[in-house]
Amino acid sequence: MSARTPYIAANWKMHKTIAETEAFLGELLPAVAEADDVDVVICPPYPSLVPAIELSARSRVRIAAQNMHEDESGAFTGEVSAPMLTEIGTDAVVLGHSERRTHFNETDEALARKVVTALDAGLEPILCVGETEAERDAEATESVLLRQVTRDLGSVVDRRIADVVIAYEPVWAIGTGRTATPDQADEATSFIRRTVAGRSTEAAERLRILYGGSVKPANAAELMARDSIDGALVGGASLDPADFAAIVEASRP
Ligand code: PGA
Repeated sequence: MSARTPYIAANWKMHKTIAETEAFLGELLPAVAEADDVDVVICPPYPSLVPAIELSARSRVRIAAQNMHEDESGAFTGEVSAPMLTEIGTDAVVLGHSERRTHFNETDEALARKVVTALDAGLEPILCVGETEAERDAEATESVLLRQVTRDLGSVVDRRIADVVIAYEPVWAIGTGRTATPDQADEATSFIRRTVAGRSTEAAERLRILYGGSVKPANAAELMARDSIDGALVGGASLDPADFAAIVEASRP
């Protein structure tokens, strides 16, 4: 068992209106009230951020955005910046989710800037990395992870690296019902930790590394039991408050 606090985040993607967000939190907050040994984070769509922040204010649940632009302001129609997120009390931000890399051409160059911008603004970056099925089949998993981790953290100073949360999300396991085996998730998260140790052994020891990809109440405990896996980034199963609360419970030390 590591000294790192477990971290369970709900990535809602483009799901839930404000009314649905309020109903979810009405059920979730009492269900996780006892889990004071776990960091619980909800990532709703932008319109639900303010109501989610207000509703969770007196709880341990923290609220994250799903994306952010690397500049403070500018002619970037449709984008949202770090100061806009911190002004409303957002705690964290998901960066580099594979859906953003694939559908919105998010690059490692932009991510390297986003991670630093988020840290400087006081937002906790939840940086997503992971290989596609073709890359795994070609035995390129480690080279992909090495490239993403090295580039995306490239501008972060050593003493801030552990303020980033990394989510290892194999693209072939996202939304497919095909979870990585605990061995596969363990190997990849351990590789990520060794990669970070190349920069700073102290940061590698403190850094939280999550697994994401078809995490459910039924498989959460065996994944969380691995020393190298500090939590989960949960998509589909996070839309149901009882399922998500069960995953939080399964991660308790
Ligand atoms: P999933 O999504 O749990 O539905 O596979 C995970 C994610 O995309 O973060």
